Amino acid sequence: MSSRIKIPRTTPLRGEKFYEGKAKILYRTADKKLVIQYFKDDATAFNAQKRGTIVDKGVMNNEISSLIFRYLEKNGVKTHFVEKLSDREMLVRSLEIVPVEVVVRNIVAGSLSKRMGIPEGETLKRPIVEYYYKKDELGDPPINRDHALVFGLATGKELDKIDKAALKVNKLLVRLFKSVGIKLVDFKLEFGRHKNKILLGDEITPDGCRLWDAKTNEKMDKDRFRRDLGKIEESYQEVLRRVTEKLGKKKG
Ligand code: C5P
Repeated sequence: MSSRIKIPRTTPLRGEKFYEGKAKILYRTADKKLVIQYFKDDATAFNAQKRGTIVDKGVMNNEISSLIFRYLEKNGVKTHFVEKLSDREMLVRSLEIVPVEVVVRNIVAGSLSKRMGIPEGETLKRPIVEYYYKKDELGDPPINRDHALVFGLATGKELDKIDKAALKVNKLLVRLFKSVGIKLVDFKLEFGRHKNKILLGDEITPDGCRLWDAKTNEKMDKDRFRRDLGKIEESYQEVLRRVTEKLGKKKG
């Protein structure tokens, strides 16, 4: 009888922590071009004035985001996702983040509702793409294309790519969520530079998306935390359950 030695799949070991944000920690790996993104349970809102914990949010968000990134990649969107490493860890390509947060909206809600004086829930006749300057100290103020260009946050070519990718992601996500009985109201994306390419970065989770149940309009996202609506964990769990049912539970 021959005893065969199983060689374990080598996963990049966590190196030095180089960034800690509100919901995630980033670690270096032995490979300069790869980074480990660790998902925390901490939740913040209103530019970190409100703080709390959502039990197992990190685990749920890592899985939701992994499933969604795989789905987007399969449909031709270039992302930083490489593979899910563990419950809370995702291996991603290192990015030089473009300091422009991109919000895509399909239905009026949140700050758009306040700014325009229109009640939440009105469906827009076409998606709106907005830019915000990624700067915590300033509370991420809204900016336009000219600001991004004149202040050197991104080039025109990069913004064209970002707009195109954001609208493609919107189409794919609207379709995905619709198929599991969820309205995609709005969401935030971040992009970064990697080897002369613009890749979708960060995460796609109920932390950064507004998701409403298609039948009841019940909120299934971080607004439950922001607005003290309760049943936060249950809502994230339900989003995970529906997305998993649709996209399957594959490894890697
Ligand atoms: O607050 P506002 O209506 O502008 O948010 C639009 C969308 O962007 C929401 O889905 C919200 O969760 C997301 N967002 C985010 N991070 C921010 C600002 C907004 O994920 N810093």
